[in-house]
Amino acid sequence: MDSIRIVGGERLEGTIPISGAKNATLPLMIASLLTSDTLTLKNVPRLADVTQLGRILGNHGVDLAIAGKRPGQRTSDGQTFHLTARDVVDTTAPYEMVSRMRASFWVLGPLLARCGEARVSLPGGCAIGTRPVDLHIEGLKALGADIELDGGYVVARAPKGLAGGRVAFSKVSVGATHNVLMAAALAKGETVIENAAREPEVGDVAACLAKMGAEIEGIGTSTLRVQGADQLEGTVHTVLPDRIETGTYAMAVAATGGDVLLDGARPDLLDNALDVLRGAGVEITASNRGLQVTRNGGEVAPVEVETQPFPGFPTDLQAQLMALMSLAHGTSTIRETIFENRFMHVQELARLGANISLEGDTATVTGVEGLHGAQVMATDLRASVSLVIAGLAAEGETVVNRVYHLDRGFEQLERKLGACGARIERLSG
Ligand code: UD1
Repeated sequence: MDSIRIVGGERLEGTIPISGAKNATLPLMIASLLTSDTLTLKNVPRLADVTQLGRILGNHGVDLAIAGKRPGQRTSDGQTFHLTARDVVDTTAPYEMVSRMRASFWVLGPLLARCGEARVSLPGGCAIGTRPVDLHIEGLKALGADIELDGGYVVARAPKGLAGGRVAFSKVSVGATHNVLMAAALAKGETVIENAAREPEVGDVAACLAKMGAEIEGIGTSTLRVQGADQLEGTVHTVLPDRIETGTYAMAVAATGGDVLLDGARPDLLDNALDVLRGAGVEITASNRGLQVTRNGGEVAPVEVETQPFPGFPTDLQAQLMALMSLAHGTSTIRETIFENRFMHVQELARLGANISLEGDTATVTGVEGLHGAQVMATDLRASVSLVIAGLAAEGETVVNRVYHLDRGFEQLERKLGACGARIERLSG
């Protein structure tokens, strides 16, 4: 299994290109199940999760063609995917596939809407607490689906097709919003989704579905009003930039000191996180190319943060913020309100010398003078990258094991950081 070796202490300076968002790419790829036409996605990141989902969709009958490199194209430019589900050949998503990537559970709504039936395994995915799917099921039932659980599978039927309905989620869920939104795009009549997730990736999917022929009002708000279409058409859609990647590199720059342009980043996608970083003493300037992030010698100030659905501080940046706050001048509190048990990085950060105590859903981080390199390992994507950030700031050598987590969600991580002066390399093993 590969690992990443970092020799810390280098200041990051230069430009990091921001990739297309993983969390938009995955549901956009799944949206290809809704039409027999070709859906073309641009700015698709090269990630293990994307490759894996391509395989899973292939199983359902989606033909994926990846456009070749054009002259003048940079290696950092996103890929172009042509996805065509001319016929859906299989409406079962088996355990072996869904357990490897939770987002593949989101095929449920589209398969049901298009074929009138779907049999999808209950998911696995990142080991960050129990992650139920009750909201997905409740939402699809409101569109007329008949759903039962059978041997670890969600079996859904709507022989006469789905019909619009009112879905009022009791809790904000990104995945359940995607699932119901995609299904509603092919349901008869109007669906109203209340307490919908407002994450920009949901907006990106809604914008794509609108181009495919669904009428959608309220994009970017917590109430989505969808007029389903009898048939959806193909379209061309460019995936929005990855706000989590952006925030991650901003924190890496803040942790090491440095001056980096995050090329292509969109500040409006991570308002709150940028405010938190500014509050910590990091200079952030938006330009038409992206975000310039600078910390020149000044101390990192402690923060008080709690994770919230968008537009609040994202849970997907919580671990990275904790790595940064390990070096702050003072004590920070970081409360995780979205996922139980999303603190696996705490004990690994402690191996690098961080001083963090945990009580319930709150971490108290007392900044230390410096971190020192060690062997570490993480069990989820964002936790892994927090260890990379800590390793970049630590004195000496850090080896992050189980790199496959990073490969699921960060495109060309070593290359991007290496180009800004980080001493980072992949060790194959
Ligand atoms: C998505 C993101 C993930 C991010 C998360 C929250 C993708 C591929 N993944 O995950 O990176 O951390 O949003 O921003 O986009 N819940 C229920 N019942 C349900 C569904 C969810 O109780 O049926 C709960 C979850 O356990 C969790 C909360 O709702 O506590 C939010 O989860 P959700 O927004 O659904 O996360 P995902 O869509 O899985």
